[in-house]
Amino acid sequence: MNNHQDNQERSSLHGQWSSRLTFILAVTGSAIGLGNIWKFPYIAGENGGGAFVLIYLVCIFIIGFPIMVSEIMLGRRGRRNPITSMKILGQEEQGNEAWKYVGLIGLMAGFIILSYYSVIAGWTLHYFKLSIFGELSNLDNETAQSIFGQLTASASTQLIYHTFFMLITIGIISKGIKDGLERSVKLMMPGLLLILIILLLYSVFQGDFMAGVNFLLIPDFSKVTPQSVLAAMGQAFFTLSLGMGCIVMYGAYLPKNESIIGTTTTIIFCDTMIALLAGMVIFPIVFQFGLKPTDGPGLIFLTLPLAFNEITGGYIFSGLFFILLAFAAITSALSLLEPSVAWMIENKSYSRTKSAFIIGLLIWSLGFLTIFSFNILSEFNFCEIRSCNDDWKGTLFDNFDHIASNIMLPLSGLLFTIFASWVMKRKHSMDELSDIPTSVYKLWRFSARYIAPIGVILVFLSAIGII
Ligand code: PHE
Repeated sequence: MNNHQDNQERSSLHGQWSSRLTFILAVTGSAIGLGNIWKFPYIAGENGGGAFVLIYLVCIFIIGFPIMVSEIMLGRRGRRNPITSMKILGQEEQGNEAWKYVGLIGLMAGFIILSYYSVIAGWTLHYFKLSIFGELSNLDNETAQSIFGQLTASASTQLIYHTFFMLITIGIISKGIKDGLERSVKLMMPGLLLILIILLLYSVFQGDFMAGVNFLLIPDFSKVTPQSVLAAMGQAFFTLSLGMGCIVMYGAYLPKNESIIGTTTTIIFCDTMIALLAGMVIFPIVFQFGLKPTDGPGLIFLTLPLAFNEITGGYIFSGLFFILLAFAAITSALSLLEPSVAWMIENKSYSRTKSAFIIGLLIWSLGFLTIFSFNILSEFNFCEIRSCNDDWKGTLFDNFDHIASNIMLPLSGLLFTIFASWVMKRKHSMDELSDIPTSVYKLWRFSARYIAPIGVILVFLSAIGII
């Protein structure tokens, strides 16, 4: 391949999105996932509610926005998997190939995230099964706890669902952009929204809506620590799927004439609305049933079955909810798998199906560690081997999530944005953002050059106790 060829001539090897709408749906599908519906409410719960939400929103707008624009831009100019795109662009702009390592950190983060993401998505499949077989009826608080406890204690049950979920993801990715990715997002995203609205109505009428909304929206800054600011930033990266190359990858399939700023605005708006909506569904129910918002990763699995239990035909709603949650997880998992698969197709010349199976198998195996961290390895803790701070005290699953979301994603997101705004020539970035007024371009460049990097660095420094 001629690395110096003009960008106009470079095109993706795997096809393009058929329309602006499918690109928006695919990126929104990547962004909206377990991060919004499962993770956001429990992290907000663990970090004091409203104050966390406020910091999270600030992170989304001043850090997430410029970085997402940068990532789409890099993908569309590189038109390859994130590693190769960064290599080509680094060569073109600076004669330096080392930028490929930024893509590599991103790909590795995606690997780790998908390994545990799939296990949690498996829980939603299990709950779907329980719902439709009526095994979630007549629940009380203790039974709900024990059902969840039984699931996490059983490595084999989790393994079955984890395998099933990985197979679905691999199957869709094997079919390629148009027949696989586009088709699935077109089906799953509208359904998810519809169900969330139905659930919101339920929560307004049946839950302690005001208590939930107050918890989510009234900030109590006494609960804010440097660690919660880091968690808010990590969550902003996680929920927008930033820093792992999946946005770079999806950008590589974006036709040249589509507006990057326009699509990013829509995507970020939808993702944020869905996270807030999920919080407004879940917290009123938590308070209504005397549960604790600090229940951690089990929060939605403990609360929602209890809520649905209260209405006739509730099992239909809960079945629907859990299957749609699984859909949201699938559309995100696709974006986690695609970059490594594209890398393998482009570099090893394997077929798409073969690449998807090989990478999928590796990620599936890594998932064992997450499964075991809820049972046989639940007592295992790095801090017993060598002394470490509180960030590392949790289970292996907690460690994976911490290292990927709070460290690797912000780090590679930071480097992507530095590349787009400092290294890439002004005329190149202007060419990618040619549809917007110069003032908006300048605003992006200023945020990408200064605000986002300084924000990320300050949060890092405060989290490790330097400031
Ligand atoms: N954004 C997804 C979610 O909120 C998760 C994800 C993270 C997907 C990183 C891709 C990359 O669930």
